[in-house]
Amino acid sequence: MQQTAALYSKLVTSLDGIVWEADGDTFQFTFVSPQAERILGYPLRDWLQPNFWRDHTHPDDTDWCAAFCLDCTKRRQDHEFEYRMIAADGRVVWLHDIVSVKIEPGGAVYLSGIMLDITKRKRAEEELRQKSEILQKIFDHIPVMVTFRGEDGHIKLVNREWERIFGWTLSELQERNGDILNDVYPDPINRRRAQDIIAAADLQWRTFKAKVRDGRIIDSSWAVARLSDGTSVSIGQDISERTRAEEERRRLLQRLITAQEDERRHLSRELHDNLGQYLSALLLGLESLARLQDLPPAAVKKLSYLIETTKQFELDVHSLALELRPTTLDDLGLEASLSGFAREWARRHDQRIKVVFNSSGFANPEKRLPFDIEVAIYRVVQEALTNASRHSNAQIVSIILERDDTQVRVTIEDDGVGFDVEKMMSSPVENRRLGLLSMQERVQMVGGEFKIDSGAGTTIVVTIPLDKS
Ligand SMILES: Nc1ncnc2c1ncn2[C@@H]1O[C@H](COP(=O)(O)OP(=O)(O)OP(=O)(O)O)[C@@H](O)[C@H]1O
Ligand SMILES: [Mg+2]
Repeated sequence: MQQTAALYSKLVTSLDGIVWEADGDTFQFTFVSPQAERILGYPLRDWLQPNFWRDHTHPDDTDWCAAFCLDCTKRRQDHEFEYRMIAADGRVVWLHDIVSVKIEPGGAVYLSGIMLDITKRKRAEEELRQKSEILQKIFDHIPVMVTFRGEDGHIKLVNREWERIFGWTLSELQERNGDILNDVYPDPINRRRAQDIIAAADLQWRTFKAKVRDGRIIDSSWAVARLSDGTSVSIGQDISERTRAEEERRRLLQRLITAQEDERRHLSRELHDNLGQYLSALLLGLESLARLQDLPPAAVKKLSYLIETTKQFELDVHSLALELRPTTLDDLGLEASLSGFAREWARRHDQRIKVVFNSSGFANPEKRLPFDIEVAIYRVVQEALTNASRHSNAQIVSIILERDDTQVRVTIEDDGVGFDVEKMMSSPVENRRLGLLSMQERVQMVGGEFKIDSGAGTTIVVTIPLDKS
């Protein structure tokens, strides 16, 4: 018996909770274990005073706790509940109180119980609740679509933005077991791609054409992330507006390029046909003047100077016309004009740079390329040479023009200082200069591919497929 009492006492003092006994009518404690002092900070004798419990519960909890306890006690029912007490230093301490109701042989009711300190758990719960509230608010209000998929790949949850853009409600989705891939991606290839990307869940952003409930097709951009339990979260945006703006910008740029091309052609014709003719006439006149007999030596000298100047003038007009819009391009085709241009360019622009031109596949001059492709390549080479001369400090620029039945390719390579292509290409369009952009644009206009690589020197490769018909 003594042994049992000792064991009981040891158990009571080692528990991380307050063991207590109290009068069932007044709720006055008749016993509390020593941990009470550690957990709440009041000396044990205070606990034994009348109304101690009532006076030290949190004001928001006092009434309902007392009513609940009283009710259970009346019904002789064991009970447990969670509430707050205020510690001696003012801290709020959360307790889980487990109470058993006992009747003495004489009929008196007394209570015994244990109060466990659950403050840490409550705090963690509160933090968790706050975090989920934050997440919930973001989920509900962010203008980004969020979908949550189970391991089977079917949608389990979508947010309001998804409902707004796609037009189905979450409950409609649930009725279909979360499987709407067939509706959203009616095209099997597109659907397969969506399934692969959901399965890969690699958090890369990819764009999709998706069909919304009312039949419209939207451009959307999605990234999928895998969660640790095999489910996944997808985040997406409706980028139709952005895509439209991008297309609009491209259309404008293309119109600009076309208008510029027309203007250049016009100017070039003017220079060549009018100015060029006048200069030829002037030169002929000067030369016949110089052939006159008995001219004073001063006049001979002056005339010979005028003839030289006019010849130079004629050359310059010729190469200016060539640069604006070579008539050779119209008349002789790409290969002849480019080789002429390369020679002329070095002479006119930049004696420091040696320009080497090579070509293959142009043996038959009758086999002309489509005109817009010729113009695109010509302009790319022109801009590439201008860039090489302006920015690269190169000594040699090589131009290689190759053609076969399926494609035409031009490679322009300089041995200059190079530049950071990645940085240049990723800077916002509005901050960029026009040279590289318009090269790219021209090539895309004729369905080609534009590649630029720079490190030690810069290499531009343009490949344009040829339509066999
Ligand atoms: N061959 C090159 N070697 C070194 N840097 C180059 C070369 N080509 C382009 N760059 C770099 O890339 C930038 C962008 O070239 P881009 O042709 O677009 O513009 P730009 O030549 O500066 O101006 P513009 O609009 O008149 O062409 C250049 O300013 C230069 O810093
Ligand atoms: Mg440039």
